[in-house]
Amino acid sequence: MCGIVGYTGKKQVDQILLDGLKTLEYRGYDSAGIAVLDNNKIKIIKKEGRVDRLIEETKISDTTGTCGIAHTRWATHGKPSDENSHPHFNHSKNFAVIHNGIIENYQSIKASLIDDGYIFSSETDSEVVAHLLERDFDGDLFNTVRNVAMQLEGAYAIAVVSTHEPDKIIAVRQETPMIIGVSQGENILASDLSAIVNHTNTFYRLDNGEMAVLTPSDTTAYNLDTGKRIVKEMLTIDWDISQAKRGGYDHFMRKEIAEQHEVIENALRGRLFDDGQVRLTELENIKDKLINARRIHLIACGTSYHAGLVGKYIIEDLLRISVETDVASEYRYRNPILTEEDVLVVISQSGETADTLAALRLAKERNAPVIGIVNSVNSSIAVECDSVIYLNAGPEIGVASTKAYISQLLVLNILALYLASIRDVKVEDITEIAKDLLSLNSLAKKLLSEDVVIKEIAEHIKDHNSCFFIGRLIDSAVALEGALKLKEISYIHAEAKEAGELKHGTLALVEKGTPIVSLMTEVSVSDKMYSNIMEVKARGGHIILLTNDQEATSELADDLIVIPKIHRYVTPVLSVIPLQLLSYYTAIIRGNDPDKPRNLAKSVTVE
Ligand code: M6R
Repeated sequence: MCGIVGYTGKKQVDQILLDGLKTLEYRGYDSAGIAVLDNNKIKIIKKEGRVDRLIEETKISDTTGTCGIAHTRWATHGKPSDENSHPHFNHSKNFAVIHNGIIENYQSIKASLIDDGYIFSSETDSEVVAHLLERDFDGDLFNTVRNVAMQLEGAYAIAVVSTHEPDKIIAVRQETPMIIGVSQGENILASDLSAIVNHTNTFYRLDNGEMAVLTPSDTTAYNLDTGKRIVKEMLTIDWDISQAKRGGYDHFMRKEIAEQHEVIENALRGRLFDDGQVRLTELENIKDKLINARRIHLIACGTSYHAGLVGKYIIEDLLRISVETDVASEYRYRNPILTEEDVLVVISQSGETADTLAALRLAKERNAPVIGIVNSVNSSIAVECDSVIYLNAGPEIGVASTKAYISQLLVLNILALYLASIRDVKVEDITEIAKDLLSLNSLAKKLLSEDVVIKEIAEHIKDHNSCFFIGRLIDSAVALEGALKLKEISYIHAEAKEAGELKHGTLALVEKGTPIVSLMTEVSVSDKMYSNIMEVKARGGHIILLTNDQEATSELADDLIVIPKIHRYVTPVLSVIPLQLLSYYTAIIRGNDPDKPRNLAKSVTVE
């Protein structure tokens, strides 16, 4: 949450910072601001609201300079406002600070600064850093930033500029991401690669407890505790800028849904073969532990958690091994039964989700091997787990996760097949599963081209206050994802329920016309599901039936979505596509921006 960017070089910095903020805006859009150094002065411009408002503001201001920092905010401490926007100044306006994260001990620091006569102009935790820099300045910017950082507790990625050393940016990282892009005559820092890929494809990743000093000609990393220089491994960005652009679509979310057929290929390439053989060389280092594992824990948040729920059905069914799926924010605090005989699988698109990272660390404390199913290469989760299976889905910018979910489902299928192969579990229908996985690309492409019917259904639900999603078995897990998608971008209350649970309470909310998205792809329980749908229909519910029964007619359904019939483990990849499109079109009809839903941010780096 919050995006930060900093540049020092020879070019005019304002446009570089604003472009960087535009690409990082998905991390938070409550306010945005820049600080530019010019003639031994720092100029700060900051505005509540989207980056576009800041861009308008900069048009009427002089922001000449070649070194600066910028921030786009997801509010934690203090409401969205101009005052609470970053960068923050100290009283004498010779330091400017941007911060992503939460400084947990800010109240005691603030109290001591107020005692010392410092006046605060915002309600944020971050502003303490600016005043600490002024109070503790010892004539050396690096030493001062280091001493200040050592007083802070919590999570932070901080960047500081100062008139004392005008072409320098000092950065510190503890828990929240920071990437340093390295180039000739210019260096750049950012919360993630999308903001630096325009300038360089060489970067290093600052790890916890590390600092970096950037000047136009050099960037050096240091250990925060010792203050000693450290050598960082230089890495290369292997995707191009066009992948992080909208490419003709109105929204990133629509583009990312449309890309899903390609994403399917990328997730399967080199991992699954026609005869059902699977290869996951990524897991070689923990293969013995996987062969002997007693239990598997699938831990994640949000959409990634929903993928984990599907994974539980598949792995338990295939391997007859117990799988526990939980949300990371609960799991990390509930003292789970987790030993070295278990395997933890953390699932995360961003690889930076704070709670998921904490679950990973808990498993490491307990000596349990950890597999990460991650999209963002070199993210914190990717780096800290024992083995990582990358989704290879390319950057996902829309706050509502779509293509990453599909990739997660595929990787979980591959993981299940891999576990079966190394544990000598015979999979009777292996060739069918493999064939269906490999046919997904063309099936998804066809489904994506038939979105007219979904637009019509969106018209039917757009004015309702509530919408329910029901299903049984794997369908019940996909129903959760359908409901999350709809609520997060359309702001219609959406609730998913296992269909058999309806009459234990939720049915009371069904009235004439209430939209009920009913998933019916699980053949073994289709009779039961049929009865549940009839019960809802009898109470006036408007049935939007999503089924793989090619014979289905509109007799049961008020609206009908028919998807191809394939193996049940693979079906969620197809059944979720109409649900993603439904949420997208409903949001559009209601006039919402699906890429930037209110109150949310893409990368949840605070707990
Ligand atoms: O990056 P992660 O996969 O760890 O993110 C987890 C959730 O924050 C994320 O899936 C969130 O629920 C999405 N907004 C859902 O569309």
